[in-house]
Amino acid sequence: MDKRKVILDCDPGHDDAVNILLAGKSPVLDLIGITVVAGNQTLEKTTRNALNVCQYLGLDVPVYQGCGQPMIIEKRNSPEIHGETGLDGPTFDPLTKEKETKHAVNYLTETIMASDGEITLVPTGPLTNIGMAMRMEPAIIPKIKEIVLMGGSYQLGNVSPAAEFNILADADAAHVVFSSGVPIVMVGLDVTRKVLCYPSVVERMRAIDTRAAHLFADMMEFFNKTQKEVFGWEGGPLHDPVTCAYLIDPSVLEVKEMYTEIDHGFYGPSYGRTNCDYFGMSGKTPNTKVAVDIDVEKFWDIIEAGIRNYS
Ligand code: BDR
Ligand code: CA
Repeated sequence: MDKRKVILDCDPGHDDAVNILLAGKSPVLDLIGITVVAGNQTLEKTTRNALNVCQYLGLDVPVYQGCGQPMIIEKRNSPEIHGETGLDGPTFDPLTKEKETKHAVNYLTETIMASDGEITLVPTGPLTNIGMAMRMEPAIIPKIKEIVLMGGSYQLGNVSPAAEFNILADADAAHVVFSSGVPIVMVGLDVTRKVLCYPSVVERMRAIDTRAAHLFADMMEFFNKTQKEVFGWEGGPLHDPVTCAYLIDPSVLEVKEMYTEIDHGFYGPSYGRTNCDYFGMSGKTPNTKVAVDIDVEKFWDIIEAGIRNYS
C-alpha cells in the first residue's frame, strides 16, 4: 500500500512535537515536509523547535518557515503553556539542521500545484500559512486531498468560553480554510480533552527507554506541569497528535458531518468560535467531519507504536 503523503503545518509546541514524532517514522504516512507558523511561540522559536525535534529524532524532513503573524489581527503566543522557548522541558544538542530558504507559503503552493491531488495537509497551529497559500494560489484548493486539522470545538473553548487557541489566533485564516470547499476533518477540543496524558501514561512511554521515548516523556512532564497550573488538569490533553493518529487509524475517532463556519466578523464574545451545525438547523450542506468521540485506549496504543518505530 502507498504511504499517504502529508505535510505537517505546525507551531511546536509540545503536542505539535509529538505529532512530528508520530508521523516521522509511521509505516503508513509519508512526511514530505514541515511548514512552521507562529502560534505557541514566536516564529523564530517555533521554527527552532521543529528543527530541534527533527534533528533529535534523525528525521531528514525539510522544514520551511512561514508566517510570523496572523493575516489581520494582532498576534498572540502561549508561553504559559509551552514555556519561554515554546518547547521547554527537553534539552537538545547544538542545532545544526537548517531551515529551507523557501518561504512555507511558496513551498505549499508550488508543491500542491505540482501534485496530482494526493497531498493531505495536517495543520496543528493557527491556519495562517494554509489560508495565505489558498489566497495566493486558489488553484491549489481542488488539488488538496484533505485537511485534517487540530482546532476548534463544537462545545467549549480553551482561550475564551467560545473559542479554541488555533482558530482564535487567526480566525480570518480559519475562515478562508473552512469556506474553501476542501474536505476537512476537524479534530477539536471535544475529543482532544479526552486524551489526558496522566503520569501513568508518561511512565508507560518512558519505560520504552529509547531517545524518542525520553523526548516524549521529557516534553510531557513539562506540559503536564503547566496544564495543571493553568487548567487544573492532572494530565495535559495531547491535542495535536490526534490528527495523525486518525490518519494512521481512522477508527480511533467517531466523526459527524456538520456545516461549520468561523465567527471572525467582529470582536465579540464568540470571536474565533467554530460554529458547528450539529443538528443541521441551517440546512447548509456539511463541509466538515467534526470529531465527536475518541477511543482513548486505541489512541495511546497508536502513540506507543509511534514511539516504538524509533529504535
Ligand atoms: C492547540 O493550541 C496549542 O497550544 C496546542 O499546540 C494545540 O495545537 C490547543 O488549543
Ligand atoms: Ca499546536
